[in-house]
Amino acid sequence: MLRLLQAIASVYRQAPHGPLAAALPKLSVEPRPGTGKRKPVAQFVGQAVALGREGPLAAIADAFAATEPECDWLQNPNYSEASLGPGYVDRYGYVELVGPGRPVESADLLVGLLLLGPGMHYPDHAHPAEEIYHVVAGTAEWWREDEGWRRKRSGAVIHHVPMMRHAMRTAAEPLLALYCWTGEVKTYATMTESRR
Ligand SMILES: [Fe+2]
Repeated sequence: MLRLLQAIASVYRQAPHGPLAAALPKLSVEPRPGTGKRKPVAQFVGQAVALGREGPLAAIADAFAATEPECDWLQNPNYSEASLGPGYVDRYGYVELVGPGRPVESADLLVGLLLLGPGMHYPDHAHPAEEIYHVVAGTAEWWREDEGWRRKRSGAVIHHVPMMRHAMRTAAEPLLALYCWTGEVKTYATMTESRR
């Protein structure tokens, strides 16, 4: 897991603004081991890692492949089939490395990786934490309330200020994206009104 933290730190050092600068000191701490709690979404890890190895964040894809078996997979408890669509539980999940109760403890920072399976629509949602995503693998469409839909590929950086509505949808490829939250990280994302 330390290898994955180091790979993330190396990406964050390239443009250490906002949350990323705050995350850097936490990425050199020896993590507690995870328990390897599985979720069905892990079925897409192999495909996502293979795609990620072709992109600019190949070092993260490699380190994730090595680390993922010991990571705990999680899902947002606010989400349901009504909000994310039927079958979402098999195609959505994330692992967190830094955060409250995570392998590296932090009260005001989250660092993790989100995995969405192909054909997934993650509708409008928002949260009070500031967020920066780095796309590790998978070309997908990303929606932001001030920009509309944009296609992003591996290496793209996506910034959401607190409470900005955003959404994603995948097509043929799964999406693996690194994220960093700062501020009010204990409040989960919630769905906003319309579906985009
Ligand atoms: Fe978000």
